[in-house]
Amino acid sequence: MLKILDDKNKMLRTVCEEVKKPYSAEDFSTLKEMVGFLSLSQDPEYAEKNHLQAGIGLAAPQIGLAKRMFAIYLTENDVLYKYGLINPTILRTSLKQAYMSGGEGCLSVKEKHLGLVMRYYKVVMAGYDVFEQKDITITAYGYLAIALQHEFDHLNGVLYYDHIDKKDPLKVSLGAVEI
Ligand code: NI
Repeated sequence: MLKILDDKNKMLRTVCEEVKKPYSAEDFSTLKEMVGFLSLSQDPEYAEKNHLQAGIGLAAPQIGLAKRMFAIYLTENDVLYKYGLINPTILRTSLKQAYMSGGEGCLSVKEKHLGLVMRYYKVVMAGYDVFEQKDITITAYGYLAIALQHEFDHLNGVLYYDHIDKKDPLKVSLGAVEI
């Protein structure tokens, strides 16, 4: 079972290091374990028994590794998006923004932070995927795009609540789409 660090830990504020090539079997298995953890966390019975919060994304610093890697395990409209990415980069973003209507959550954040997080509605992200075993490009919209941006932020020591407007936490950017 992976141990998830909380946001009081300095690791969550660390700018992570790029993973050097050739990528190691250890990093591949770590990413697969992270995806496995997310999958288990979404099983209500298992989650309750093991006191887990359901998660859709997990970044390496959250398990104590300052490496540019993260896992996504998310289902939307019966489509499963499963990624174990190494050295992800953002290639393109939309002008249009989007936000989760109920705010965001994070496996490393125990307290509730009321407020909305404005993200790009669309992102094009590239990185090496452990499941495809090659460099891939992901074009993501809405929920998946938000999840990718949330995890990408972790690699730079940024947490979702950093983006919440301090004076007006429920402020919505002009034209932003509610997800
Ligand atoms: Ni998070």
